[in-house]
Amino acid sequence: MTKMHRYSWLVCFAVPAAYASVLPRQGQPRFRPSPNSGFDDPTVNIASPAFGTAIAEGYQGPFASGYETSLVGPANLLRSGTLQIGVKSNYTLPLYNSINAKGGQYWWVTTDSSDEGNAAQLGINFSPKLRFAAQSLSPDSMSPAEDVRVVNNTVVGRQGMVDYSPVRNIVPGNGTFSFPPQMAQPGQVGDNNYTPLIRLANAGGEVWNAPIVAGDVNDHYLNQFCNGVPEDMQEGFYSKVHDRVLAICPRESTVTLACVNGFSFSKSVLYFALDASDTLPATLDDVNYAPRLANLQVGGDDSLFSGVERFFVSTNGFSNKDLASGAPNNETHHPWRQGLSSAINGDGDPLNILGAIPTVALDYSPLWNFNLFSWTDYSIEAGIRTRMTGEFEVLGMAAAGYVTSPDGSQLETQNIVTTIVLKLSTTNVFGHRSSMVLRVTTARR
Ligand SMILES: *[C@@H]1O[C@H](CO)[C@@H](O)[C@H](O)[C@H]1NC(C)=O
Ligand SMILES: *[C@@H]1O[C@H](CO)[C@@H](O)[C@H](O)[C@H]1NC(C)=O
Ligand SMILES: *[C@@H]1O[C@H](CO)[C@@H](O)[C@H](O)[C@H]1NC(C)=O
Ligand SMILES: *[C@@H]1O[C@H](CO)[C@@H](O)[C@H](O)[C@H]1NC(C)=O
Repeated sequence: MTKMHRYSWLVCFAVPAAYASVLPRQGQPRFRPSPNSGFDDPTVNIASPAFGTAIAEGYQGPFASGYETSLVGPANLLRSGTLQIGVKSNYTLPLYNSINAKGGQYWWVTTDSSDEGNAAQLGINFSPKLRFAAQSLSPDSMSPAEDVRVVNNTVVGRQGMVDYSPVRNIVPGNGTFSFPPQMAQPGQVGDNNYTPLIRLANAGGEVWNAPIVAGDVNDHYLNQFCNGVPEDMQEGFYSKVHDRVLAICPRESTVTLACVNGFSFSKSVLYFALDASDTLPATLDDVNYAPRLANLQVGGDDSLFSGVERFFVSTNGFSNKDLASGAPNNETHHPWRQGLSSAINGDGDPLNILGAIPTVALDYSPLWNFNLFSWTDYSIEAGIRTRMTGEFEVLGMAAAGYVTSPDGSQLETQNIVTTIVLKLSTTNVFGHRSSMVLRVTTARR
């Protein structure tokens, strides 16, 4: 696959990778994750550091990340809203309404800015690299960031819009793996002008990640969905609103988005994804297809003027169906499951491996440049295939030849980008989260 894809995401939440020991000490209760408690897959969700010790849960000092966010423990990145932790976590953040260049209204959120001061003030993620996302591929071609103006405290002149009427359709691959799918049609399609990135031409010229989440629909209609979307109204709702929206409430100026689990440098990360530059990831992640993001220069990783950050996506990791029966605690999750085939099979998120996020490095960008990788037949047959949780594990496996690009050639950056919003927990959530994090033996390495 040499097609180039670009993707943009937001990251939610960074917590230590949770490798709960499955075998408890004698006399201690087994670790049995209950879906109601927010635990589902014990190898992804966070367990208590008291597990396997003689101390009671909670009998520990506060998390070091409360003192210094780069230390181990949950840390908030996105602070503009509230994280609700569950088997399927979600995040509620401010919702904005504006009038587009043709006079129609649209609804949007903002999650990242190239302006450090405003990012800190609004509790969104600061990404210095976003400035360079305004460059184009030739002097007269379209920039991946649309120029808009700020008038009366809102954005005016936005041209790119998203059509929410298509119905997402994905037909799994029929070979050994479900990836690549035989067919993938996104559920939301941006026009040629649409990009989640806006540049405030008359207000500092900074670039903001400002994805659209609903089309030309009025607040009266949307206010019906302040507490969620009833099953019998979903078809109508999702023909007007982004598929990752779980609730939307103009009267309270909020929207609730579904979060995705992943990893960054062995920490567990929650994020949300709203846009992708290619129909395949746009369908897989159920996000806006944003063709204009394909004008982004990729491949530069952390070099001068690069606007992107890399992330690593497995195509053929283990799937839950590979788990032999008789697993401890009747566990149904393969502890090493990962990748797009597993996700297409319905196991859950693909557990992608992000490069830098704030607290880990300075080069965070919400524009994630796909690096698809596949385990070789040799790795699969020899039992080398495993779950990876950090960029350098993937690069090491690639250098040694255990993983390659999907076509068997050496691992390389694909020209696809997705935007990911990183969200780390809020103070509220911190309290709630801490009871979950208290279940990992390895939480305080
Ligand atoms: C958000 O997540 C929480 C915790 O799992 C859940 O109780 C709530 O219903 C979710 N909200 C929506 C709108 O789905
Ligand atoms: C901005 O506000 C002024 C005064 O309320 C109003 O006259 C004008 O139409 C507004 N402009 C836009 C673009 O909304
Ligand atoms: C898989 O699908 C392709 C076309 O979509 C078809 O040609 C092929 O025969 C199918 N293979 C199997 C094993 O069903
Ligand atoms: C596993 O499932 C079986 C059959 O439902 C049940 O009898 C057994 O108690 C379960 N074991 C555990 C550890 O939950």
